[in-house]
Amino acid sequence: MISIQETGTGWRSAGSVVARRLLLDRQAEFWMGELDPVRSRAEIRARVVAVVEETEDTKTFVLRPNAAWQGHRAGQYSSVEVEVDGVRVRRCYSISSPPGEALVSITVKRVPGGRVSTWLHKHTRSGDILRLGTAAGDFVLPAATPTKLLLLSGGSGITPVMSMLRDLAARDAIHDVVFVHHARSRANVIFGEELSELAARHAGLRLVLCLDDEPSAPRGFEEARFANLVPDFAKRSTFLCGPGPFMDRAERLWENVGASALLERESFAPTTAPARMVSSVEGVRVRLARSDRAVAAKGQGTLLEQLERAGERPAHGCRIGICHSCKCRKQTGTVQNVVTGEVSSEPDQEIQLCISVPRSDLELDL
Ligand SMILES: Cc1cc2nc3c(=O)[nH]c(=O)nc-3n(C[C@H](O)[C@H](O)[C@H](O)COP(=O)(O)OP(=O)(O)OC[C@H]3O[C@@H](n4cnc5c(N)ncnc54)[C@H](O)[C@@H]3O)c2cc1C
Ligand code: FES
Repeated sequence: MISIQETGTGWRSAGSVVARRLLLDRQAEFWMGELDPVRSRAEIRARVVAVVEETEDTKTFVLRPNAAWQGHRAGQYSSVEVEVDGVRVRRCYSISSPPGEALVSITVKRVPGGRVSTWLHKHTRSGDILRLGTAAGDFVLPAATPTKLLLLSGGSGITPVMSMLRDLAARDAIHDVVFVHHARSRANVIFGEELSELAARHAGLRLVLCLDDEPSAPRGFEEARFANLVPDFAKRSTFLCGPGPFMDRAERLWENVGASALLERESFAPTTAPARMVSSVEGVRVRLARSDRAVAAKGQGTLLEQLERAGERPAHGCRIGICHSCKCRKQTGTVQNVVTGEVSSEPDQEIQLCISVPRSDLELDL
């Protein structure tokens, strides 16, 4: 409520009081932003409120995002940007917490020699701020929960399916779920305790842990053992996430029994090696149609790398062709896809900047 004060010169007009109040509000907003770095309308920033040691090489970072965060669906990922040795680097991490909560978690396995995972493990503490991207990805539970569900994961691939299971538990929708997880040993089962508690509480959840160090256990995914453990697997809507060879083997089994249509998979790394070493054309001119500017792409490498070297900051996530954050329309010109080797010369085609090299001058809808 605005109060109108009497001054020595009479009643001050309501308009001038409102204007002064607005100015004060803006100043307050500015100083609050200075004092509280998580505040931003444009960027998704999140304060780390807890760091949980899950296993010897995996930590969960519990985050409180600012108002720019628009939520996620169970199974989606977000990109996380950190500054490593003065360079901003971004990686994708599946959100392990269920949707609809004020706090959001990512669960990161430390990869030996890996830049971002090692940095997060070593340097990130409660109170720190991380930059996030909008939640993305179509590895999500359908709106109508399937009657028979199979969640199949290996190692850190448990993160998106754990979000799904937590979501189902929160909605009291665990009716007929089989959760099969592969790990090196019991100590390496991420969320092991919570999984056991959920299985004890929900009659509709069957938990199967496949541990490599069990006597006479096969390492990783093995068709005969799996079919024995989940005989009706081909009738279940299945969500699969884990290391590449593990997923490839599982996917072949679904193909062999003609059940591929029921299988959804999420990869953390590219499944296909680059088709060939494709050298790019240097010094091409790229017109960025939306901002009506032209830049000279710099050096060798993918279009994303060349544009970044030229000072541009196109949206991106995984940088390996998985997440589609970098997709854009190529209006004119020729690019080659480094994964498939395919050449795109037709106008108005969708390309991914992180796996395309320029072959001529280009016009992009950026
Ligand atoms: C959709 C999606 C969801 C994901 N969700 C998760 C998740 O929930 N949890 C999780 O832990 N991960 C997840 N990932 C993987 C994650 O994005 C990172 O790829 C992972 O953390 C490794 O990143 P990094 O920066 O630590 O490693 P990078 O620096 O990218 O290195 C990766 C590997 O390459 C090797 N390497 C790096 N540089 C060199 C070099 N110069 N020469 C030779 N080898 C090199 C490293 O030793 C390492 O083995 C997800 C990925 C995607 C695409
Ligand atoms: S950045 Fe993920 S597909 Fe290009």
